[in-house]
Formats: sequence, C-alpha cells, structure tokens
Amino acid sequence: MKAIILAAGKGTRLFPVTLTMPKPLVPVANKALIRYAIETLTGMGATEIGLVVNSLESPIRQALGDGVNTVGVPLTYIEQADPRGLAHAVKVAQPFLGDEPFIMYLGDNIFQDPMRELYTRFQQTGAGAAIALTEVPDPTRFGIAELDGDRIKRLVEKPKEPPSNLAIAGVYVFQPAIFDAIDHIKPSWRNELEITDAIQYMLDQGHTVIPYIVKGWWIDAGNADSIVLANQLVLEQLPYTPTRQDDPRIEGGSAVSHRVILGENTRIINSVIRGPVIIGDNVVVRDSYIGPYTSIGNDVIIESSEIEHSIVMSCCTIRNIQGRIDASLIAENAHVSRAQTRPAAYRFVLAENSVVQLG
Ligand code: G1P
Repeated sequence: MKAIILAAGKGTRLFPVTLTMPKPLVPVANKALIRYAIETLTGMGATEIGLVVNSLESPIRQALGDGVNTVGVPLTYIEQADPRGLAHAVKVAQPFLGDEPFIMYLGDNIFQDPMRELYTRFQQTGAGAAIALTEVPDPTRFGIAELDGDRIKRLVEKPKEPPSNLAIAGVYVFQPAIFDAIDHIKPSWRNELEITDAIQYMLDQGHTVIPYIVKGWWIDAGNADSIVLANQLVLEQLPYTPTRQDDPRIEGGSAVSHRVILGENTRIINSVIRGPVIIGDNVVVRDSYIGPYTSIGNDVIIESSEIEHSIVMSCCTIRNIQGRIDASLIAENAHVSRAQTRPAAYRFVLAENSVVQLG
C-alpha cells in the first residue's frame, strides 16, 4: 500500500529555525520529525511512501535519499512548488498514488497511537475514507467533525461555531474517489483547496466516512512550543535504563541518573544529568546541569550552564550562563555565552522572528 507525507509547507510559525532547515527535519529526541511519520506509516503497512516537498532539491531528499538505506522503505519525491492546500497536494501526488486506496499523513504531526487500527477499520468497513480525530480545547483552529453514531455526518474547516470539539488529526485513509472530489471543490477563504471540503464532497455523494478516535497524545508540531512539548512526550516514553557506574564517558564527580542516553565520544565531566535526556555524539558537558526532557544533538559543548526541557541541535555551544535555560529550541550552530570582558552587556545577533526572554 502507498502513502504520502505532506511536507511542502514553509514552516512560517517556526521561523527563524525553518529559514535554513525544513520543519520535517527539526529533531525531536534527536530524530527528525519526518522519521516519526515514516515509522507510523510503515507500522500501518505502507510499503512505498511519496514525500510531497516544495522542491526536488529539498534538504529532506539530501537527508533521506531513496529511503531504502535510511528509513527502510522506498521514498519518491513529489514536487508541490506552489502550496495551494492539502487537497492540492493530493492532486499533485495522484500520478504516484494511482488507482488504489492510500494513506495521507501531515508531515509535522506526531502520534503516540501506532494508528494500525485506523487502517484496519478502513479495510473492514470498505468506507470511502477514514480519518483520525481527537478532542481539542480550541476547535475553531482545526477541521471539525460532527458524528452520527460510528459515522461522520459533516465536516467543517475552522468553524466559527464548532459542532463538536473533535478535530481532524493528521492521518487520513482514502479510496481513489477522493481525486474526483478534489476536482469538484473550490478554494476556501484562505485560498487553499481544503482536504476537509473534498471529504465533505464525498459525504454529499453518499460515500461513508468513518472516524477513528486517536489514543494517547497527538502533537501538531507547528511552532517552537509544540516542538518542545513533542520532545517531552517522546522522551517520557524512554524505557528505564540504569547508568553504569563504570561508564568511561562519565568522569570526575558526575551524577548521571537512569533514562539518560549518551552518544559515542561524549564526555560528561563534573556534571549532573537527570533523565529523561538524550545526548548525541562528540558532546562535552562540563561543570553543568542537564535536566529532564532535554535533547542535545551531536558536537555540542555545554560548560558551566544549566538547561532543561529544551532542544539543542548539533554544533551549538552554551557557556557560562547564569540562571537556567528552560523550554528553549536552539537551532544548529547557535552560540550562547556570557561576556568574559567588560562591558558585561547583552549582545545579540538575531534573525527575524527570533525570541529572547531574559530571566
Ligand atoms: C490542517 C487541516 C485541518 C486539520 C489540521 C491538523 O489545518 O486543514 O483540518 O485539523 O491540519 O493539524 P492547517 O494546519 O492547514 O491549518
């Protein structure tokens, strides 16, 4: 069975991070977001995945290649140069998908639920479509479903007066009838071809659309806060792993708790690490505290600083920071330090949309 992952968005809510790195490559627990999507899809039974990207030169392609050696499933890259909505992306992917049922996955979504039941129920019922739903506190921000027993009665995108609080989460299974539906819809107020409108068209034509209520957490990782939260939720699932007292990576009076994953050539010197924490390769942590829910990429140096509940991507340095760094997303090659000479002033080199909050 084929699947597509929609990964062509500009990631504007994550600027400036996504000015140099597409959102699907942003690491959560040291693994690119899109790898979670791929794992869920292969778990559901996908044997070929199409990645809808905004350019065939996308860094996603450079990172994952043909997929076989990187993620264990063949990947095909499909260009959607001018993103005009989720339904437009499906249309662009039609030649790849052919005339078979398929799964569609929004590339920045992460689920605790393996979603196999969604696909099984689609197969068992022979429905025209099956969609994942989850309760949300703010239904005006999503596509919302109105149910009639075990079927969907009506769908509405970003309703002003929501008929329920059941939001469409980012996984859908479709019969090829969705292509005809997309041909019949018009762009919405935000000038996008909405997949929600196409599914509503299927309902109007008499197709059955079944709901699947997602189990556990769901994160639509669009902005920095939700990426940091996704990191927390994924790290929370780390299994119990005791720390070996004779681990040569842990030196000089350090205390490293259980549920701490250390990469190769990493050195923890005179520091306290309290898991769940994941630290990549070639990292030096000296005279520092790394607290729960922190992910640190490769080639990072942290000295005389405290950090928790944060993501630090590769090649960063953090030195001599007073006070604790918390709930932060620090992208590749960023440097945070305390001035060593007078004036002891704050100095910033910030990109557009950067966020700095001093404690
Ligand atoms: C899109 C869909 C919406 C769905 C949401 C889930 O919204 O249009 O129906 O609930 O994804 O993340 P968008 O992120 O484009 O605003």
